[in-house]
Amino acid sequence: MKRTLGACYYPEHWPEEIWAEDAARMVEAGLTWIRIGEFSWSKIEPNPGELRWDWLDRAIETLGARGLKVVLGTPTATPPRWMADRHPDMFAVDAMGQVRGFGSRRHYCFSHHGYFAESQRITRLMAERYGANPHVAAWQTDNEYGCHDTILSYSEAAKVAFREWLRAAFDGDIDALNLAWGNVFWSMEYHSFAEIGLPNLTVTEPNPAHVLAFKRFSSDQVVAFNRAQVEIIKAHSVAPISHNYMGRITEFDHFKVGQDLEIATWDSYPLGFLEDRVGATPEEQRTYARQGDPDFQALHHDLYRAVGRGRWWVMEQQPGPVNWAPYNPAPLPGMVRLWTWEAFAHGAEAVCYFRWRQAPFAQEQMHAGLLRPDSKDAPAIVEARAVAREMLDAPEVQPAQAPVAILFDYDADWAWSTQPHGAGLSYFQLILDHYKALRRAGQTMDILPPTTRDFSGYQLILAPGMMHMPDDLKSALAASGAEVLYGPRSGARDGHFSIPTTPLPPALPGLEVTVARVESLRPDMPIALTGGGAAHLYLEELEGSAEVILSTTDRAPVAMRAGRQTYCGGWLDAAGLDRLIETLGEAAGLALRKMPEGIRTRRTATEEFWFNHRAEPVETEVGLLPAAGVFRRAL
Ligand code: GAL
Repeated sequence: MKRTLGACYYPEHWPEEIWAEDAARMVEAGLTWIRIGEFSWSKIEPNPGELRWDWLDRAIETLGARGLKVVLGTPTATPPRWMADRHPDMFAVDAMGQVRGFGSRRHYCFSHHGYFAESQRITRLMAERYGANPHVAAWQTDNEYGCHDTILSYSEAAKVAFREWLRAAFDGDIDALNLAWGNVFWSMEYHSFAEIGLPNLTVTEPNPAHVLAFKRFSSDQVVAFNRAQVEIIKAHSVAPISHNYMGRITEFDHFKVGQDLEIATWDSYPLGFLEDRVGATPEEQRTYARQGDPDFQALHHDLYRAVGRGRWWVMEQQPGPVNWAPYNPAPLPGMVRLWTWEAFAHGAEAVCYFRWRQAPFAQEQMHAGLLRPDSKDAPAIVEARAVAREMLDAPEVQPAQAPVAILFDYDADWAWSTQPHGAGLSYFQLILDHYKALRRAGQTMDILPPTTRDFSGYQLILAPGMMHMPDDLKSALAASGAEVLYGPRSGARDGHFSIPTTPLPPALPGLEVTVARVESLRPDMPIALTGGGAAHLYLEELEGSAEVILSTTDRAPVAMRAGRQTYCGGWLDAAGLDRLIETLGEAAGLALRKMPEGIRTRRTATEEFWFNHRAEPVETEVGLLPAAGVFRRAL
């Protein structure tokens, strides 16, 4: 597959007279893909049933006539104002019972039958009209499920649907639900599914089993909403269908949504993320303010490669300052080019910039584009053109299996956030910490879904924090022949969020370790390890006959190992994780490196890449890399 570039365009924002010139400039900049349509419902259907396709026909024709390929988005993230009159109860409701009404976007509840049908209707009309259009070469469903906290809705529609979901999950047996959830505690027992409410507005913490079930239900609602659109589009078009996911949004199972789509795409805003999603210290935020975190984007590239079963894009790439983070600096010169090449290094087929031209009006008027509002070039288009030139002699995209894998489980993230046991403890952060340690050791990784059972070809597999681990996963990992790392909290709960008592977790075949007690730690109370590094935030007391390979300075075991399996009961700091990865990496026979601060490398089947995320030149084993420098060589 050839690597390509693209941009997000909103023809409905601009006078029609400039579309043709825009298209010509897009081609001149080396772009291939133009995504349109995803917020245009009020222009397509200004009044119920009054359809205006003429402008969209001409926009697609104008782009297509110049050889550009269109990604057409279904407009269901922004239902028009009249929809609220037709379905006054279609809005999501937040945990405090407040309606999340009209006036921005994503104002709908996934469980509302009326809106679900409207979303099918507009998707069908669009697919009928454009399914065979030769310029529509890909589709996007909706836009960014989960953006603005929109997965969990405490509406009446959600309550009714949740009861039905529970009835099906427990085969209509309310006693089975009471037993699985432990409802005998605090007299929470139910006599029928119709008595069950949503887990909000309770006096204190609701039953965690109830909360976890509600999160699973809410994720399934997204899968169903998306699938309904996909089925309709597929009846009219053979073009691949995508959805654009986000950074650190875990409220629905992306692997399950991804099963129904051909391509996973995501929206990469490295500077915005650094400010509010990475968990960076103030010093890291200053150091990387204009470059973004060196690992956060890479992790998502690997995650979405897995969600897309090999096929993935960046649908929105930050081109300059954004509008939505606490602070919105401009990228260091060269970073737009670096981010683009980094996506290609992780196997992206396409990188599309958000957006073609900065909007002079409405919510995102402070968000840069490839062009300024006056249509002059903004700095990012110069870097996009440079990448387009460099791509001419680059090889095709060839996904290759990495030697190291990390299991990523959305369900585990919901379990951690349901009962973290300590402020700020998050599964996503635990995965990011492990991912960073592997990158500091110069490794190339794959992320795998929790349903993986065939691990052939991997030398090292990490399954930290996976709270519920089905038995067949445990045995597949034990039999994989790879070095495997578990813990903390791997296997700590059964499928309904209770602690298994026979035997105590983690109950891993061939690894004699049990967790006798757990504690969470204040961030300012790390517990030092013998030999360097510390456990911080969370620590388990381990028992068993396996060999102790890391311990506290008080000789309490922190990591224990038998055969090729290791269980680590502490959340380790960077120095501790580096030691653990070194031990396991050596045992796995990996070629380990000690990467200079801010330098990262990745290999594909055909190329090796090095990236300098620092604001100054850095000496590396492949030579001096300038600030924001990219080095690539064929293997
Ligand atoms: C994304 C979204 C776009 C735009 C962009 C701004 O989350 O999909 O529509 O809002 O952020 O950075």
